[in-house]
Amino acid sequence: MTRTEIWNAAYDNDTAPWVIGEPQPAIVALERTGAITGRVLEPGCGAGEHTILLTRLGYDILGTDLSPSAIDRARANAVAHGVPHVAFEVADALTFATRPDFAGPPPAFDTIVDSALFHVFGTEPELRAAYVHNLHAVCKPGGVLHLLALSDTEPGFGPRISDTLIRESFSTGWQLESLHPTRYRGRVIPSITEAPPGLEVSPEGIVDVAAWIARIRRL
Ligand SMILES: C[S@@+](CC[C@H](N)C(=O)[O-])C[C@H]1O[C@@H](n2cnc3c(N)ncnc32)[C@H](O)[C@@H]1O
Repeated sequence: MTRTEIWNAAYDNDTAPWVIGEPQPAIVALERTGAITGRVLEPGCGAGEHTILLTRLGYDILGTDLSPSAIDRARANAVAHGVPHVAFEVADALTFATRPDFAGPPPAFDTIVDSALFHVFGTEPELRAAYVHNLHAVCKPGGVLHLLALSDTEPGFGPRISDTLIRESFSTGWQLESLHPTRYRGRVIPSITEAPPGLEVSPEGIVDVAAWIARIRRL
């Protein structure tokens, strides 16, 4: 299976533990601080909850995902939320730099919101470097990347990463301005067999796992 097919399957079979029917609380809180400005890009937008929320609040945002099934889901989700004019597009974040409408010059985006995409490349240094390179290409100098990623500081599931990995990945061409522990909300699905003991799961199957939130300025 290709990567695209693997991601599609999670949406087509409704087995995506990150599809929780609402935006991540950490992203909702971030928005309330006023930290999201200008033209906004959400790579790996999945079911589109953040792009939908931010569009509804008046932001100029484009949600993108490698998976056509994710974008189909996001578009349907936007209609269901009564925000049908949300901008979504199928796009591989590892090729952003090749797009003149994204990379310019000048780069198109003032703010990038990454919810749970960076950590996908946690064990693949070359893809991780390519992703960081592509983000750099499309983010304006002085622009900001907000990164929400699963943390390896507690038991959990999914690709969990260390704060050191974030620091090292953005050590050149970026300035890490803040990095804090937070939570990422997921849902327990039958295929998560390794769900560790000690995680508090709501009767609806919702669980908040350890995560990082970082503000990283593009130099
Ligand atoms: C863990 S999910 C997170 C989805 C969403 N941001 C959220 O927090 O609910 C990761 C998403 O990244 C997408 N993805 C994976 N590789 C990608 C790539 N190279 N470019 C763009 N999106 C990608 C997947 O299809 C999936 O929708």
